[in-house]
Amino acid sequence: MSEYLPGLAGVPATQSNISDIDGEKGILFYRGYPIEQLAEKSTFEETTLLLLDGELPTAQALDDFDQRIRQNRKTQFHIRDLMKTFPPSGHPMDMLQTSVASLGMFYPGNECLTGADACGDLDYIHNMSVKIIARMPTMVAMWEYLRHGYEAPEPRNDLSYAENFLYMFTGKEPDPLMSRIMDVCLILHAEHTINASTFSLLVTASTLASPYNVIAAAIGTLSGPLHGGANQKVLEMLEEIGSPEKAEAYIDKKLANKEKIWGMGHREYKTKDPRAKFLENLVDKVLESKGTNQSSLLETAKEVERICEDRLAHKGVYPNVDFYSGTLYHEMGIPADQFTAIFAVARSAGWLAHWREQLGDNRIFRPTQVYAGEPERPYVPIELRK
Ligand code: COA
Repeated sequence: MSEYLPGLAGVPATQSNISDIDGEKGILFYRGYPIEQLAEKSTFEETTLLLLDGELPTAQALDDFDQRIRQNRKTQFHIRDLMKTFPPSGHPMDMLQTSVASLGMFYPGNECLTGADACGDLDYIHNMSVKIIARMPTMVAMWEYLRHGYEAPEPRNDLSYAENFLYMFTGKEPDPLMSRIMDVCLILHAEHTINASTFSLLVTASTLASPYNVIAAAIGTLSGPLHGGANQKVLEMLEEIGSPEKAEAYIDKKLANKEKIWGMGHREYKTKDPRAKFLENLVDKVLESKGTNQSSLLETAKEVERICEDRLAHKGVYPNVDFYSGTLYHEMGIPADQFTAIFAVARSAGWLAHWREQLGDNRIFRPTQVYAGEPERPYVPIELRK
């Protein structure tokens, strides 16, 4: 009889070659490459192919992949029509989960998953991965227009992944520095071992559900505030605090009430998340490009970090990836409720790498439980119940 561990803390649920974390030192590797090197030297397209295939691609392989992504950016007009029926107040993560699931009706192609054995056709897996990775940013950007009552611009195939996303999102010619910053954000969010959304993806994938359902399940899991939804919560918290000098009283009150501080803490990291360090520096770059080094939001975030370090470091609680991404996206002019959807766009790369890995050695997830309910007892007729 095995012991029940809440949250499966420390319990290996899979074996994977995709990414690894050294939580004591604060290091994250994708396929053995430290995240800092990829953020400095790679692109989202190249990192995606590294995650999917396991090796850095040749120039030819990268070009082929890039072209296929560019050619798959457009969605059928039915999807746009479907999105127009969503309430404008709908959250972008709900929009994205519904829209990704709907791709299964418009671009089915589940033929490889119909047998009892998992599909081993790498062309099929690659094709489906391209269809999803290429269309996710299109849907997120389209929603920004449709929810305000406007038609969205068509995706452009003369732009990189990050450039096209910013072009579609803002309707303006993408600025090179902002495009590179978005590219780095996408790289930093692309993969993160077996977190909650990747675990839910593996469970769904293990049933041989379609890749659209697999990604839709992961999007639903990412949306929660204890996971990807924390980036929006961080921004709301910083705005509620209002200014650095009000941070201490705010944090102490939260901690006294046993409430969590958004963007702090991680199951794996017992030091500052390496992605948070990168994102914090990127805020400075965005501010510089706007001709300032002043941001009340950034100052408030830094003060919250300082106070939390004082109060929570002994528990191993430090800023996670969501702590500075909200401030960064806010300074880039992105609305707060879109932060988690952008996270999902980036994470589609890692999710689909895990989908492929799961199909390569599949066994349906069917864990056991520790039953703690009533022992066997006879049915009680309704007239005899108290
Ligand atoms: N604020 C205050 N205290 C926190 C905290 C936070 N954000 N995160 C963890 N802690 C404290 C817990 O209260 C607990 O203290 P205790 O031992 O005195 O009871 C201890 O640190 C361990 O935390 P626990 O909740 O057991 O960690 P977990 O691994 O189950 O949860 C998170 C991890 C990420 C869910 C958790 O840190 C959290 O809720 N963070 C805020 C939400 C967030 O930013 N999520 C994004 C993650 S990338």
